[in-house]
Amino acid sequence: MARRILVTSALPNANGPIHLGHMLEHIQTDIWVRFQRMRGHEVYYVCADDTHGTATMLRAEQEGISEEQLVTQMRIDHLQDFNGFLVNYDNYHSTHSEENKFFAELIYQRLQERDLIFTEEVEQLYDPDKKLFLADRFVIGECPRCAQPDQYGDNCENCSATYNAVELKNPKSVYSGTTPILKKSEHYFFDLAQYTDFLKEWVRTEAVQPEIANKLSEWLEDGLRAWDISRDAPYFGFAIPGTTDKYFYVWLDAPIGYMGSFKHYCDNTNHVTFDDFWAPDNHTEVHHFIGKDIINFHALFWPAVLDGADFRQPTRLHVHGFITVNGTKMSKSRGTFILAKDYLSHLDPEYLRYYYAAKSRGSADDIDINMEDFVQRVNSDLVGKVVNIASRCAGFITKHFDGKLAAALDNEKLWNSFVTASSSIADYYEADDTSKAVREISALADAANQYIAQHEPWNLIKDPDQKDKVQLVCTQAINLFRLLVIYLKPILPAMAVKAETFLQVDPLNWENHKAPLLGHKLAKFKPMLTRIEMKQVDKMLAASAPSAASDTVLSTAQAQGTQPAEQGQYINIDDFTKVQLKVAKIIAAEPVEGADKLLQLTLDVGDHQRQVFSGIKQAYDADQLVGRLTVVVANLAPRKMRFGVSEGMVLAAGPGGEDIFLLSADDGAVAGMDVK
Ligand code: MSP
Ligand code: ZN
Repeated sequence: MARRILVTSALPNANGPIHLGHMLEHIQTDIWVRFQRMRGHEVYYVCADDTHGTATMLRAEQEGISEEQLVTQMRIDHLQDFNGFLVNYDNYHSTHSEENKFFAELIYQRLQERDLIFTEEVEQLYDPDKKLFLADRFVIGECPRCAQPDQYGDNCENCSATYNAVELKNPKSVYSGTTPILKKSEHYFFDLAQYTDFLKEWVRTEAVQPEIANKLSEWLEDGLRAWDISRDAPYFGFAIPGTTDKYFYVWLDAPIGYMGSFKHYCDNTNHVTFDDFWAPDNHTEVHHFIGKDIINFHALFWPAVLDGADFRQPTRLHVHGFITVNGTKMSKSRGTFILAKDYLSHLDPEYLRYYYAAKSRGSADDIDINMEDFVQRVNSDLVGKVVNIASRCAGFITKHFDGKLAAALDNEKLWNSFVTASSSIADYYEADDTSKAVREISALADAANQYIAQHEPWNLIKDPDQKDKVQLVCTQAINLFRLLVIYLKPILPAMAVKAETFLQVDPLNWENHKAPLLGHKLAKFKPMLTRIEMKQVDKMLAASAPSAASDTVLSTAQAQGTQPAEQGQYINIDDFTKVQLKVAKIIAAEPVEGADKLLQLTLDVGDHQRQVFSGIKQAYDADQLVGRLTVVVANLAPRKMRFGVSEGMVLAAGPGGEDIFLLSADDGAVAGMDVK
């Protein structure tokens, strides 16, 4: 019986670019979707950009464009990256859409009717300058427990205390630097506590991996508090019906975006109706692929909201861990924060699809990209073993048999062992354990290569009596190759198309593994996938490396996950003459508590002093710097950072980290001189 399946990946934030962490999720989802389709099931795969919230507002403000302009452009960029990695959505929408507004309002109304919404006055920090309430990440102050300065409003990086932002000592608004005031405002709450029993049961269903259920049970034992679903104006989002200055919190309408995107698809295609998938008690399936950081939203709030609003429950959450690069968290300063587009400029998307598949075990464990391992696995396992099978045998068939395969197999037993493997491989795909699927496929490839090595068609062909045998051997090998292609097709869709062209067959589906291809004419063999060269990887890493300047300023844009200025963009001489460079004498240098890269420099620029934060701590001892002359961009707009205001930028060169060199002005310069 064909299953009917709706699949989603978490909606990427519209305030930053797609990186290799996002790609893990979308590649995992796409593989699962392609697998289900090959099995003959009816599958819809939808996603969207998650557009609302404070971060979008800020980013739009920084770029001097409207939020709508920002999210429109981001969506185009995101789609280009996902397409580049062969991720095949049926629809990629936006949460800033009519459909999403409709469902957010409908759900809210139903929750109200069921008495699941209540309001309460909340006292919060408010920036009187900027006229807005401060989310936890937008206020800094001293930790109420250990007094560490410059901590965010939710928790302390020094002592790990968690607290309410109003408890911070000497709080400052990150927007304006002003001292926030306490201000009351009415908030709307979803009464999650009513769902405690429901959720205790739900997390123990098949919808949730047991390891995740254990984590959730801890939270459930602690008791559930009501969920604040409103934010005060100004906010980029949907106004709460019946109010003029309240908005739905972005996390309320984000998962509803799954529905919005699907509805948009239904309305535009007429293949399927919305209710088939979202009405309660239907026989279809809904699968969400998500990262471990957003489990609470998908396993607590979302099922409860759905139930409260009379919609169905998700069938299964597929939770993955985080991508690390060479063993550590992706980091801009280490050059391991790799953007999807930088990968795609240098490497074939199928290498990463294969590598991610080889490392994904259907668990929430983190997955490391080790660059040497990446190159080695792709080159030896994929190109060396699998693709090689066809290239070793195709030539004989073309040259000596007019491209035609023999009418029988040489080794039925070996063939059958390949056929039998299909069921365990399919089970692994179903369970998201592509690591085991790849391992099994790789073992089959070994067997196929052994078979070829054993028969040595390149020697057999020298003996005219053995000519038929050569055709049989190559027919056998190419048939084994064909099964490997079927089994790998969810992971390597583009390679599969090339193989289908070579084999001269219709698009392969899972069923096709049952019968061999005999007496069939092949096309001429063309290479399907080539080896990775380490220099391609190096180029990609170079593109991800921070420029010295952006490392030094530690700009807000970086903090939010955007790229430093594009390389290769020119400025003209007029732009350059606007930059005022001055010689500055470093009169004091101190480490900045809580920042492992920053030094706080006090500079003498001739007629006055200023303070600059500079990301050179790994390269210099503070003491070494005092008394030295350097070059500073004197007319850079002062920038409010987490640690204070930075008034300018010192110039440095080098890749960053320990290898960064302050530009010095040694020969007869004095502080305050213009640099020409
Ligand atoms: N907008 C929310 C999701 C809303 S879903 C209704 C969000 N966006 S995100 O852009 O921050 O992350 C999107 C997805 O990418 C999440 O599932 C998250 O776990 C995943 N990843 C983000 N960085 C990641 C890694 N470094 N590694 C693996 N996945 C990570 O959360
Ligand atoms: Zn503390």
